[in-house]
Amino acid sequence: MNAPEKPSLLSTVELAPRDPILGVTEAFNADQNPRKVNLGVGVYVDDNGKVPLLECVKRAERQMTEKQSPRSYLPIDGLATYDREAQKLVFGDGDIVREGRAVTVQALGGTGGLKIGADFLRKFSPYAEIWISDPSWENHRALFEAAGFKVNAYPYYEPATHGLAFDRMLAELDRVAAGSIVVLHACCHNPTGVDPTREQWQRIIEVVRRRGLVPFLDLAYQGFGEGLEQDADVVRRFAATPGPLFISSSFSKSFSLYGERVGALTVVAASKEEAARVLSQVKRVVRANYSNPPVHGGEIVASILGTPELRSQWESELAQMRDRIKSMRQGLVERLRARLPKENFDFVLRQRGMFSYSGLSKDQVQRLRNEFGVYAIDTGRICVAALNSRNIDYVADAIAKVAA
Ligand SMILES: Cc1ncc(COP(=O)(O)O)c(C=O)c1O
Repeated sequence: MNAPEKPSLLSTVELAPRDPILGVTEAFNADQNPRKVNLGVGVYVDDNGKVPLLECVKRAERQMTEKQSPRSYLPIDGLATYDREAQKLVFGDGDIVREGRAVTVQALGGTGGLKIGADFLRKFSPYAEIWISDPSWENHRALFEAAGFKVNAYPYYEPATHGLAFDRMLAELDRVAAGSIVVLHACCHNPTGVDPTREQWQRIIEVVRRRGLVPFLDLAYQGFGEGLEQDADVVRRFAATPGPLFISSSFSKSFSLYGERVGALTVVAASKEEAARVLSQVKRVVRANYSNPPVHGGEIVASILGTPELRSQWESELAQMRDRIKSMRQGLVERLRARLPKENFDFVLRQRGMFSYSGLSKDQVQRLRNEFGVYAIDTGRICVAALNSRNIDYVADAIAKVAA
C-alpha cells in the first residue's frame, strides 16, 4: 500500500485576509456612479484628484539626469548628505546635531525606518513589549509583531468627545513595565487626526521618561500639520530629556514621493561614542535586511534639502499642500454646519493632517457607499485631502443625509 501523500508545502498556505483599505479602493474602482468619491485613500491628492509631482522634484531630477551619475551601491546607511539633512529636518540646528549624539540612516520610507528600528530593538531589548495607540496606523502592530514583539495598545481616542482619551492614556502609560517601547505619532495622528496639545505632550514626555519607557516617534507627516518646525516640536522636546529616543521619518507625503521609498531612522544616544556603537549595529540590521538603500529617491531628497533654492521651493509647495487640506477641513465643516445646524462638527477643525475620524458609524459609512458612491473606511476615517472644489458639496450633502 502506498503511504498517504504528504501535502506539499504551498498547498497548506491559507489565503491572507484582504487589506481593508485596499479593499475600499477596489470597490470604488468597480463603482459605475459618475459622482463617486474615494475618501478612503492614504495619499495626498491635489484639487484635480491627482498625486502631485512637485516642481522642486522635477528640477532636482533634471539636474540628476544632466549629471548622469553611475548607479553604484550606496553605503549601508545611505547617502551621507541625505542622512545629515534628514537629521537637521528633525532637530533643526539644535545641540543634538552639534554634539553628534544622533545617528540617522536612510531607510525605505517611514515603514523602513520603523522596521530597522524594530529589528534593532528586538536584538538589544528582546523581552520588551511594544505599546501602540488605540487606534493606530494598521501596519504598526503587524510590523512590530513581525519583528517578534508582543504588541499592546494604550487608550488614545475618545469617541464621546472626538478627542484624546488623555487621562486614560496617561494612566495606562504610568502602569506599563519599565523598558517597554512606546510608539507615538509625533504629529497628524493616523487614523484619527487627533494630536495631544503642547501641555498634554509635556505630561506624556514626563511619564515616559519617569517610567523609563523607550519612546519611538513616528514622524510620517512632518510639515502637514502646522509647519516643518512646529511638527517636529515634540521630537525636539523628547530629545532635550535624558534617555534613548527612536524616530522614524517619512518623506513619502511631504515630498509626494510615495513610490521612491524615502525615509529615515534616527536614534538619539547619550554620547557621540555611544551613538557610534549604535550606528554600527543599525548598519548590521540594514545589511541583513536589504543591504543598502536605493539611490534615486535619496538623491532627489538630498538635493532638494541641500540646495537653498530648491529647499525654499519645496517649503512653499509643502505649505500649499498643508493649506489646501486645512481649507478643505474648513469648507467641509462650514457646509455641514449649514446642512445640519443642530450637529457640531467643530472637532474636525481641531484635527491635524490628512485624516479625520469623522464620527460616522459603520452603518453610515455603508450608506455613504451604497447610496452616494462616497467611500470612507468603516471606522469613519476619511482622507480630507481627497476633498476638492468639485466634490466637496456633493460629499457634504451625502454626509448630511446619512447623519441626519
Ligand atoms: C503613521 C504612519 N507611519 C508610517 C507610514 C509609512 O510611511 P511610508 O509610506 O513612508 O513607508 C505611514 C503611511 O501611511 C503612516 O501613516
